[in-house]
Amino acid sequence: MKSWFVRLMIASTGAVAGHAALAALPPPPKPIGIKPAPAPAPAAPLSAIAQYLNIDINAPARYASVTLPAYYDAQLLRSDNTPPNNRITDKGATLGRVLFWDKRLSVNDTVACATCHQPANGFSATTQFSKGYSGVSGTAHAMGLANIAFYRDGRMFWDRRAASVEAQATQPIQNTIEMGYDASNGGINALLVKMQGLPYYPELFKAVYGDAAITEQRIQLALAQFERSMISANSRWDQGYAKTYNAGLADKGLSLDVPGLTAQENTGRRLFMGGPNNGGIGCAGCHQPPTFALSPNSLSNGLDAGETRVFKSPSLKSLSPGQPMMHDGRFTTFEQVVSFYNLGVKNGPALDNRLKTQRGDPRVPNLSRTDQAALVAFLKTLDDPTLRIDTRFGNPFKQ
Ligand code: HEC
Ligand code: HEC
Repeated sequence: MKSWFVRLMIASTGAVAGHAALAALPPPPKPIGIKPAPAPAPAAPLSAIAQYLNIDINAPARYASVTLPAYYDAQLLRSDNTPPNNRITDKGATLGRVLFWDKRLSVNDTVACATCHQPANGFSATTQFSKGYSGVSGTAHAMGLANIAFYRDGRMFWDRRAASVEAQATQPIQNTIEMGYDASNGGINALLVKMQGLPYYPELFKAVYGDAAITEQRIQLALAQFERSMISANSRWDQGYAKTYNAGLADKGLSLDVPGLTAQENTGRRLFMGGPNNGGIGCAGCHQPPTFALSPNSLSNGLDAGETRVFKSPSLKSLSPGQPMMHDGRFTTFEQVVSFYNLGVKNGPALDNRLKTQRGDPRVPNLSRTDQAALVAFLKTLDDPTLRIDTRFGNPFKQ
């Protein structure tokens, strides 16, 4: 049994080269807050998981068959970017949760995905730029991950450089600033070897994939399942729209006043939902309800004059007050965001037509102060407090 494991691991990851790379690393610092590993006990297959983690991989939490609101209808679900070979399973997403929270996925055991993508903050960060494993900051704001499944195009990162959620998932691990497994630190193979030596991973991979081989692709699949499970459908807007959703109407009831929102919030909602010729200013043309994920054909929003890069936006669900917004985290309040769209959109090759007049100039809605305040009030109704505290996304490690 044991030699079969070892053969499989070497076959799948090139363990010899990985070991050489691992030997070049500085000795790992003492893990913080985690009990020392016991000697592996092959006779009791679940012991290592229980030692390290507050999960039962054979009785996982529910990720695959959650009940979504009725307005997550068949048409909407067609915008789900899940590939056919990576449907969410409860066990797969549970492994993804462990990977997402494991600081050992960084070279010096200090940074996990969750360090920058904090559930309490919409899976984003309160700081403009996040520090990686050596204390150095990057130059982009950590993106919120809620409703990531519904960006139909599936491309990831602000500049859309990753082709899919899966392809993105191991890039932070290999990033020189973020988690540090770049070529100089042995690359992904050094991590795969390290994970084989962590007692819980061979058991978890076996439970999910049927054998204990730890590969980059399996890490990608599990992380992507976990991330696509982060669905935000319980904001105050959702609770109200659940009552006015009407599959028989052309706009499915999105233009109707939403019960439970104040008059001011509903004014802001009308501005957001309506097109420029329809009493609104067209936000929903790009940030599409009910997921508020970006339309796949959206170009840039004109933050800087002459911009040539096409940026995407995360879903607007679960943006928290004070959270830096936009690719460089330049705004920290909805007031600043609304003031930008109201008067500050700049022209450039990447500016989307939806933000231009017929003459090709940037659109200037020139909203009154009252309307600006209403739009801000509406954006706040998209916050989803249940997602922040959902234990399925919390830290699975024993403290
Ligand atoms: C040091 C902070 C940091 C760590 C650690 C980190 N991220 Fe990120 N994440 C970011 C930043 C910053 C961006 C935006 C980068 C860019 O676009 O250039 C980002 C973007 C993303 C995106 C793109 C979202 C979208 O809508 O396009 C995903 C998905 C993601 N991260 C997942 C992960 C996963 C999975 C891990 C762990 C394996 C991880 N991140 C680790 C900071 C971090
Ligand atoms: C042409 C499509 C388009 C329209 C119309 C549009 N946006 Fe955006 N929005 C974007 C893009 C693209 C980004 C990301 C820009 C970047 O960071 O470079 C973005 C970013 C945002 C963000 C920050 C998201 C984050 O996680 O940091 C907010 C908030 C926002 N938009 C609100 C609005 C509001 C309110 C309106 C209506 C006044 C609006 N948008 C209209 C395309 C659009």
